[in-house]
Amino acid sequence: MTMKNVNKYAPQFFAPEGVTMDWMKKTQIDKPPYWCSVDLRDGNQALIVPMSLEEKLEFFKLLVKVGFKEIEVGFPAASETEYEFCRTIIEQNLIPDDVTIQVLTQSREHIIAKTFEAIKGAKHAVVHLYNSTSVAQREQVFRRSKDEITEIAKFGAELCKKYREQARANGDGEITFEYSPESFTGTEPEYAAEICNEVIKIWEPTAEDKVIINLPVTVSHSMPHVYANQVEYMCKNLLHRENLIISLHPHNDRGCAVADSEMGLLAGGDRIEGTLFGNGERTGNVDIVTLALNMYSQGVDPGLDFSNLPEITKVYEKVTRMHVYERQPYSGQLVFAAFSGSHQDAIAKGMKHRVEKDAKIWNVPYLPIDPADIGRVYEADVIRINSQSGKGGIGYILETQYSHVLPPKMREAFGYHVKSISDHEHRELQPSEVYDIFMRDFVNLTTNIEVKKAVYEDVGEDIRANCNIVLAGKEIELTKMGNGRLDAVSNAIHSLTGLDYVLESYTQHALEGKSSSKAASYVSIKYNDEIYWGTGISHDIIKASVRALVSAVNRLMDAHK
Ligand code: KIV
Ligand code: ZN
Repeated sequence: MTMKNVNKYAPQFFAPEGVTMDWMKKTQIDKPPYWCSVDLRDGNQALIVPMSLEEKLEFFKLLVKVGFKEIEVGFPAASETEYEFCRTIIEQNLIPDDVTIQVLTQSREHIIAKTFEAIKGAKHAVVHLYNSTSVAQREQVFRRSKDEITEIAKFGAELCKKYREQARANGDGEITFEYSPESFTGTEPEYAAEICNEVIKIWEPTAEDKVIINLPVTVSHSMPHVYANQVEYMCKNLLHRENLIISLHPHNDRGCAVADSEMGLLAGGDRIEGTLFGNGERTGNVDIVTLALNMYSQGVDPGLDFSNLPEITKVYEKVTRMHVYERQPYSGQLVFAAFSGSHQDAIAKGMKHRVEKDAKIWNVPYLPIDPADIGRVYEADVIRINSQSGKGGIGYILETQYSHVLPPKMREAFGYHVKSISDHEHRELQPSEVYDIFMRDFVNLTTNIEVKKAVYEDVGEDIRANCNIVLAGKEIELTKMGNGRLDAVSNAIHSLTGLDYVLESYTQHALEGKSSSKAASYVSIKYNDEIYWGTGISHDIIKASVRALVSAVNRLMDAHK
């Protein structure tokens, strides 16, 4: 036995009978659910320091901006701040007409009374009634029978109905009812359906006045398909299903809140209660950002706007004092970052392929969505350079950010050079540092030898170069022939240095694509079995190529000092 207390545990869930699991054949969520943010209630309840009124206001505005149409703003009877907050947004007219606030209440007279008082003046509110129904809660916490627990729910439902009638008589705003059998996943499915049906009978939903039945995964006890079966069971066994909105409220104890939600939606759920980044009790509520962007990645508009996720993250971290984990799907700092060479290479090629083919559908390797769609920046977020990186990523940075298109073999050589620096310094290198390394170690080098001046003359098919070359601090003038300008200068260098290298390759391109712009040349030379690369930059193409050659020779001389 590896974990000595394993015998202390046994499954705590109820697998409903009679479900056909037709939802399993579905592979796609083809429309978004109704989204309800519970950040300001469930999320706030789980913070080390709950949000102040000002912080809740800022968060509320953010949720509205993201596009939530239903926002649970608190448990007004539970705390003065929650009550105050509710009154503030109503009295200061901060709730847009198309946004419904939601408030949570227990099934107790004074709490329900205070809850209705809190929402007075709201154009539309959801009153969310809950009581605990699970075996563990019934037996250990409330010590009541099923019938007694049902009575608690009925009592609250009747009171809510009475208060709503009064509110209607006073000409107050619209009120929708929601009921949660709290700890639903630890409740026998037959009993969960029974208690919900008792509430439904009291509230009498119609097509115009639907009732929300929320099925919370208060604590997650099972694999997601079991929850989906529970949802299917409820959908098939609740009265007036057509006039109900089935809401899902998964917590994340088993790390399955997203899977619970997605499978629960396939099984008949219409609505999701969750939070941004999954904040909430214990391991949190379901992360709505992940759920919504999962849909987005399949071509389904989630109806929420996460196009500036970094800004949303910033506000969230400020007001909650929580931190979004680096690997949190979509929103974490590192979730689009590719450090490894093979990933970088594939991404760089994929991005190029996309442009070349003018691709409409996104399918770049390793990137489930285009990071730019949610406000991420390729330069800072995608190709990141450390000792794991490779030629693809490093070359990609030089090409996309600094317009240097290195020949493939030079990419490789430069890639090794950069990797080894990162390895030695044991740290990530920023794109600007990669560029600085390139400029410092490969471009227009003059450390050992420099061609100060070269004048060319055509001699038949050949070229004569009259050069002024500085070697070991001494300027020497000499003239050499060659089959081209570069060859003539190379011959001058040969004769001065005595280095028996061979000019291997030469390429060049304009740096900014304008005729007035600079040219970049890339030259490789072979010395014995070693290859040395150099780059030259100049307004003049010939000068650029000579500088590239001289840079390569300087690197050779450095290596043989
Ligand atoms: O997790 C839960 O069960 C809740 C209820 C109050 C809906 O937050
Ligand atoms: Zn909850």
